Amino acid sequence: MEDVRHEILTGLTTQPKYILPKYFYDEKGSDLFEQITFLPEYYPTKTEKQILKNLISHIDFDFNNAAIVELGSGDASKISLIFSQLTDEILAELTYYPVDISYAAIQQSITDLSKHFKLKSITGLVLDFNTQFHLIPQNRKRLFLFLGSTIGNFDEKERHRFMENLYHEMQPGDHLLLGLDRVKEMAILEKAYNDSQGVTARFNKNILRVVNRILDTNFNPDDFEHKAFFNQKQNRIEMHLVAQKNIQMMIDKRLNISLKQAESIHTENSYKFTDADIEKLTRNSRLKIKQVFSDENKWFSVIYLVKTN
Ligand SMILES: C[S@@+](CC[C@H](N)C(=O)[O-])C[C@H]1O[C@@H](n2cnc3c(N)ncnc32)[C@H](O)[C@@H]1O
Repeated sequence: MEDVRHEILTGLTTQPKYILPKYFYDEKGSDLFEQITFLPEYYPTKTEKQILKNLISHIDFDFNNAAIVELGSGDASKISLIFSQLTDEILAELTYYPVDISYAAIQQSITDLSKHFKLKSITGLVLDFNTQFHLIPQNRKRLFLFLGSTIGNFDEKERHRFMENLYHEMQPGDHLLLGLDRVKEMAILEKAYNDSQGVTARFNKNILRVVNRILDTNFNPDDFEHKAFFNQKQNRIEMHLVAQKNIQMMIDKRLNISLKQAESIHTENSYKFTDADIEKLTRNSRLKIKQVFSDENKWFSVIYLVKTN
């Protein structure tokens, strides 16, 4: 808990201020994210699901007695699409490890999946995929899933470090399906993060409730405005919370966090990928690309990779 407090305090006392996006996902945050995935403006989930719906017969992964490890599994709706393409015999011998920082998301997805699919086992792992890969069991051949362009939350350095860690975690013969959101028309991108029902704004502001609980502060989400825009130089959507007035917050009766009116807290980056970015990411990862699946507009891609040695 001290590490978590320290991590958040560091972000709120540097310039410019930030809160790491992993703090979005308490029970309410996971629920709001699930609502976002159904919004008409939010194309990534719909587009990626369209790709995943028919993908299994096109990949050469041998699911017999295998394990699927899904990193940042969330509501597990995408794994349902994959299970639906497998036979009952294969499912009966399959092990599934949903991995997420959100206990609520893991618990809910296990309940939902167990109702619909009879697997050998489903074991949820509540852990941080940046630092705790070593806790993932290694006793079977594995298909890793890292979907939803969650890797887009990392900047280039972080994403290469993540892929490096994943490479070391994977055994030769293990495979990975990696979902990446692509650079596209700015209006489409910005609309996806500024929905007309304000769900993304609520999701963004919910991070302050999480911070309040951890730091014992009382930031009022209504004192902040949701702001999301495409930074063309960096090819990323940025989400911010902009203070609508001067705000002072005392922590432990000694540390003072202060925000000036119009000052923002940076809460998320969502990088969008070009062909060149994908090429560089996979080259540095030392995994071999076997196939690239994209929708007809090339808005989203799912890359199928293998560790060969
Ligand atoms: C953008 S959502 C994607 C969810 C789902 N994979 C999808 O495609 O819809 C990111 C997911 O990663 C989880 N997450 C974020 N940071 C994490 C971390 N450091 N370790 C483990 N899970 C994390 C969140 O709880 C959330 O479920």
